[in-house]
Amino acid sequence: MKTIAVLTSGGDAPGMNAAVRAVVRYGCESKLRVLGIRRGYTGLINGDMYEMNLRSVSDIIHRGGTTLFSARCPEFKTEKGMNKAIEVCKSNKIDGIVVIGGDGSFRGARDLSLRGIPCVGVPGTIDNDIACCDYTIGYDTALNTIMDMVDRIRDTTESHDRCSVVEVMGRHAGYLALNGGIAAGATSILIPEHKFDVKVDIIDRMARTQETGKKHFIIMVAEGCVDMLREQGIDGTIGLAKYIQDKTEVESRATILGHVQRGGSPTARDRILASKMGYRAVDLLKKGTGNRVVAIHKDEIVDYDIYEALKMEKHIDMDIYKIAMHISI
Ligand code: ADP
Ligand code: F6P
Repeated sequence: MKTIAVLTSGGDAPGMNAAVRAVVRYGCESKLRVLGIRRGYTGLINGDMYEMNLRSVSDIIHRGGTTLFSARCPEFKTEKGMNKAIEVCKSNKIDGIVVIGGDGSFRGARDLSLRGIPCVGVPGTIDNDIACCDYTIGYDTALNTIMDMVDRIRDTTESHDRCSVVEVMGRHAGYLALNGGIAAGATSILIPEHKFDVKVDIIDRMARTQETGKKHFIIMVAEGCVDMLREQGIDGTIGLAKYIQDKTEVESRATILGHVQRGGSPTARDRILASKMGYRAVDLLKKGTGNRVVAIHKDEIVDYDIYEALKMEKHIDMDIYKIAMHISI
């Protein structure tokens, strides 16, 4: 192993820069040539890359986004795109790649590994939806952003005796909504992993709390709940706020937090996690080991075969949901 490359792919996540920094610094310290590929697999296909040194990653540990830029690259999924990527690896003498991204990016890393370019995946996504990994890079920062934003929403919600329905990201996963909901003291939390009934889980709960004097409410909704809401005749988060207002006569507002959740300076937890994971990825490549995903499990950095990792399933901790429901009444 003489030359390694690093790229960030898919939706960006705070802490990706800290992971890139760890890869570049430890790679250079290990006397490897390190290339930074811009815009994920798009840059790989187009040969858009540059040689990095110890100073290339100065002053990025605290920055959100990714200084390598990111992209979604449909072409890479085609035979032609994959062949182009392999050619570029060969012509640039790339012996291994660290791929920082989500499970889509890991599928690409697996395909490259199968074709003789050893790749190591590092989980970077705010959604926390990588099955083999307890915490993904960016999740903690996004969670803290959600908490801060909902604290602000709570101030104005309380002043006006209103109900605020807050939609958070997560794609098909409810981690951000569940843990953001418990951290922000939401009265109800809707996640795609748990079947819900808007009447029972929101309207009735609000009525119970009103009996004890509660006048303002935060309802947390994962973006992945849209289909389940539609099945109950409700059109998304805005429709849910209208529905709540109709049924309860509590003036209601909807806030879709959106991409504010993806930006910002990473928390200490994300920086440390990213540093450890980036370091492990280089350690694996140094030994010539590819087709692995780095993860954290029970506070230990571990790694898995990509194929096995992609087959794993992760279940949301419903005990947390139960706790949230018992204490937010
Ligand atoms: P994430 O990595 O955050 O899950 P995506 O699912 O958008 O994000 O995947 C990022 C990129 O990884 C895609 O644009 C594509 O280039 C590549 N990719 C995704 N799925 C596959 C696949 N099944 N096979 C090969 N490459 C894939
Ligand atoms: O996967 C990260 C994520 O932010 C999801 O939570 C969200 O559904 C999606 O990406 C948004 O993607 P885009 O930035 O392409 O709108």
